[in-house]
Amino acid sequence: MDRTQLTTSADLTRDEVEFLIKEADTLRDKRTDDLKGKICASLFFEPSTRTRLSFESAVLRLGGSLFTVANASSTSMKKGETLDDSIRVIEKYGDILIMRHPKEGAAADAVRFTKKPFINGGDGSNQHPTQALLDIYTINRELGGVDGLTIGFVGDCKFGRSIHSLLYVLALYKVKKIIFISPTQLKIPNYYLDMLKEKGIEYLEDSELNKHVPEMDILYMTRIQQERFENLEEYYFLKGSYILTSEVVRLGKPTMKVMHPLPRVDEITMEVDTMENAAYFRQSENGIYMRMALLKTLSKNFYQ
Ligand code: NCD
Repeated sequence: MDRTQLTTSADLTRDEVEFLIKEADTLRDKRTDDLKGKICASLFFEPSTRTRLSFESAVLRLGGSLFTVANASSTSMKKGETLDDSIRVIEKYGDILIMRHPKEGAAADAVRFTKKPFINGGDGSNQHPTQALLDIYTINRELGGVDGLTIGFVGDCKFGRSIHSLLYVLALYKVKKIIFISPTQLKIPNYYLDMLKEKGIEYLEDSELNKHVPEMDILYMTRIQQERFENLEEYYFLKGSYILTSEVVRLGKPTMKVMHPLPRVDEITMEVDTMENAAYFRQSENGIYMRMALLKTLSKNFYQ
C-alpha cells in the first residue's frame, strides 16, 4: 500500500483494506512512536465526537502531536476565507491533515492544495472513508469475514455518508445481498445502485423493515441526517421512521450484529445495548485502531 492520501473509499483496493485490517489488529491497545515528531492538523469544520476524538487519540497513541479546529466559526472562514486558501496555509503548519467539512467534494478540493498526508473525515453527505474502514474491520471481527453476508442498511440511505462509503468497500467482497430500508424520500441515490449493478452485487430496496430482518447478518442502523434537510418540517415528519427495539432484533438470527456509526438519536432503544447482537460500541472503539493504522501507513509512505 503506497498511498499518502484518502479522500474517498471508491479508490480503495481489497489489498489495501486487508492490509489496514491487519495493521489495526496489531495496533490494538498499543502505544508507539510511529508519528514521533509529526504534527497533525485536525480540522473539523462540522460537528463530530467520535471521528475527531478517535483520530486525536490515535495520533497521541502513535506518539504524534496535534492542533485542532473544532469549530469553523473560530477560523478565518468565518471572515470569508476560502477552503483553498485555508488549506494552502494550514498545510505549512501541520505534517498530516485530517479534515471534515460540510460540503460534498471538499476533500477532493483540498488535496489540490497539498501533497502531504491527507485524510477525509467526512465531506457533507458524500463520503466518510475512515468510517467505512472501521466498519469493514468491525464486520470482520464480529463475523470472521465479509464474503457471503447479507447486509441491511436502515434509515437515511440518501444523506448517510457512512452508507455511501461502506458500499464501495463492500463491493470489493463477494457479499450475498444488500438490503436498503428507507422511507421513499430517503432512498439510496441511483448512482450507488448503478455501481452495485456494475459489480454484479444483488440488492433490494424497501420501506418496510421487519420482514427483511430474518435475512440479515448485519443490520446497519443510521440516524436521519437532520443537518442535510432544507426543509425541517420534512425532517420532523421522517424522524422516527424506524425504531429498532429488542423485539425487532429478536426477529433476526441470533448471530445477527447491529451496527450504527453513532450518534443515535432515537433509532435504537437503550434495551438493545445489552443484547449480544449490539456491536455499535465495539464498532466505535475499533475506529481508534483503524485510524492508527491509516495514520501510521500514510505518514510512513510520505515521510520515509
Ligand atoms: C457519522 C457521520 O458523521 O457521518 N458519524 C460518525 O462519524 N461516527 C454518522 C452520523 O452522523 O449520523
